[in-house]
Amino acid sequence: MSDWSGRVAIVTGAASGIGRSAVKRILTQGGSAVAVDLSASALDWLDQDDPAGRRTRRVAGDVTEEATNVRAVEAAAALGGLHAMLLNAGIPGMGTLESLDMTTFDRVLAVNLRAVVLGVRAGLPALREASAPSIVVTASVSGLGGDPGMWAYNAAKGGVVKFLRAAALELGRDGIRINAVCPGPIHTEMTRAVQNSPIHEELRRHIPLGRWGEAEEVAAVLTFLASPIASFINGAIVPVDGGVSAGSAQFTPWGPLSDR
Ligand SMILES: NC(=O)c1ccc[n+]([C@@H]2O[C@H](COP(=O)([O-])OP(=O)(O)OC[C@H]3O[C@@H](n4cnc5c(N)ncnc54)[C@H](O)[C@@H]3O)[C@@H](O)[C@H]2O)c1
Repeated sequence: MSDWSGRVAIVTGAASGIGRSAVKRILTQGGSAVAVDLSASALDWLDQDDPAGRRTRRVAGDVTEEATNVRAVEAAAALGGLHAMLLNAGIPGMGTLESLDMTTFDRVLAVNLRAVVLGVRAGLPALREASAPSIVVTASVSGLGGDPGMWAYNAAKGGVVKFLRAAALELGRDGIRINAVCPGPIHTEMTRAVQNSPIHEELRRHIPLGRWGEAEEVAAVLTFLASPIASFINGAIVPVDGGVSAGSAQFTPWGPLSDR
């Protein structure tokens, strides 16, 4: 029996990148998934992976709205229950303290933080009925430290990290595990705009492994943490960053001090 056989997960932000990879992995390992994203057509890729539509459901909606999260839980029930939530939808937010407008700030907080809280609250009753229930949140290395021009995203992802720490203390007695992954720079739609700019190389030089990560490498950890194999991991913050968060940020690992 595979890790996901007979288990149902909700995955938010499933149209592309890390979320899409996570859904693919769950299906490959015998599980079922409710894929949530802003538009239904963005989830059409599921036609290839589950042509008969037996192991997937699509929920089109904004995860910052309670109704979207409730619909996702209902869709999971139609697939046989809810065992895991991969709360992964997110948006960046760039701008200095004085240039970023408050509307954007509110949206960055809503998608990256409020939606996680809404997702957890919507899923709890069903998770309490499930065997080996688990929640995993996609935070970021940007939730562990600050980045120039990314304070709104830093605040939102930092909020998610502290939320899961507190939630783990509350939910442990119900047997519900909650953990977070903190990706470093990953090749996805979110970072497409900088992939052909000098920022790509600037970021690469701060990664001890000397390369960006791929969505599949984050999805592998997300789905591991959400699976029963990770049965004693709870309240953990797991960097998937090629070593970025290991540094003190004083030197780049690919700078002159590392020259052999
Ligand atoms: N790519 C990176 O370098 C990186 C690094 C650290 C953390 N992350 C985090 O990983 C997660 C996944 O991002 P990705 O890199 O796969 O990017 P992505 O842009 O490929 O995927 C994000 C998905 O979330 C969806 N989404 C955004 N707002 C939504 C909303 N309100 N309701 C429903 N869906 C919504 C988007 O439509 C998109 O399909 C995000 O939380 C992101 O912050 C990414």
